[in-house]
Amino acid sequence: MLSADVGEALLEVRDLRLGFRRDGAREAIGLAVDGMGFSLERGKTLCLVGESGCGKSVAALHLLRLLSSPPAEILGGTVRFKGQDLGTLSVTELNRIRGDRICMIFQDPMSSLNPVMRIGEQMGEGLRLHRGLSARAAGREVEAVLKRVGMADAAAVAREFPHRLSGGMRQRVMIGMAVLPGPDLIIADEATTALDAVTGKRILDLLRSLTESSGASLLFITHDLGIVARIADDTAVMYAGRIVEYGPTGALLSKPVHPYTVGLLRSSPANIMRNPSLPRSSPAGSEQGAAAPFRGRRRRLAAIPGSVPGIWDRPSGCAFHPRCAFATPGCRKEDPPLRDAGGTFSRCAAGAH
Ligand SMILES: Nc1ncnc2c1ncn2[C@@H]1O[C@H](COP(=O)(O)OP(=O)(O)OP(=O)(O)O)[C@@H](O)[C@H]1O
Ligand SMILES: [Mg+2]
Repeated sequence: MLSADVGEALLEVRDLRLGFRRDGAREAIGLAVDGMGFSLERGKTLCLVGESGCGKSVAALHLLRLLSSPPAEILGGTVRFKGQDLGTLSVTELNRIRGDRICMIFQDPMSSLNPVMRIGEQMGEGLRLHRGLSARAAGREVEAVLKRVGMADAAAVAREFPHRLSGGMRQRVMIGMAVLPGPDLIIADEATTALDAVTGKRILDLLRSLTESSGASLLFITHDLGIVARIADDTAVMYAGRIVEYGPTGALLSKPVHPYTVGLLRSSPANIMRNPSLPRSSPAGSEQGAAAPFRGRRRRLAAIPGSVPGIWDRPSGCAFHPRCAFATPGCRKEDPPLRDAGGTFSRCAAGAH
């Protein structure tokens, strides 16, 4: 991991810096993604996890060059897909990759589906466009994939308009659409967040089994550590535009070292049950009054105090320090790079115990 096999990785992201310009102000740029780097091997699943506003979606959209500029600005970094620097490709070359080699699933299928086009037609559009299939041949492939995503009457679903399907069915359609061309990479941004828990779990299992059987890699974006535990080989924890801890999911969930990862785990019902080794209290003399929930004597569900700072209000040093029970005065000045912390790579190991 961590870019170990540069030649092997399907997706290699290095030192990505993405910002937004404040309205009318030439100088002012707020960084939504700040020095992000990761690699994803073929057939593997990487989860990007973090609270709302950490930069997960901005980073994912940039991978497919879908951020509109302005207001977005690409300030640095590279994205290599199958060894090719996506930043050097023309729009035509990118269009050959989008929706064919890399497919994306969004949280709200209604925003991605065309409301006035039948499901079968829109699912088959990519096959006709990228592969030159006839409408009939595309239709056959669409029905086959609708069956694979669990639609009993695939032909009937193909004839429907999106609004006639339930939320779970629409998300199945989106997954079908994403796996249809046999892509190398699927990016799923909060793909199950809008669904009820049971449907969400089914969709997740489906996505996992489809990517496993096809050998595709999956980049899954979520704020839910229960999902991470279920599907991810590797996990990158993001905070305020930066990856703060990164490593194999087993190590990250069982022995987290960054205080933010520890905080996320402590506030996750799924993990607090499973991980009795999480620290119960903050160190003596912690100066952060706001961080009281970290100090509970009994192990209980504890939300991280405060919220993620906006791109215009990033604190100096480690951006997590105002919310961190382990913060020292030095944390206001410095934000160390990711370092080998045993099981994971982390910017800070103060949450280890
Ligand atoms: N078009 C934009 N203009 C200005 N700021 C933006 C824009 N889009 C995103 N941002 C800011 O960039 C930061 C990262 O946003 P992003 O949508 O990537 O967060 P996220 O981690 O995906 O959150 P969520 O879990 O809510 O989806 C946020 O502070 C957001 O307000
Ligand atoms: Mg998002």
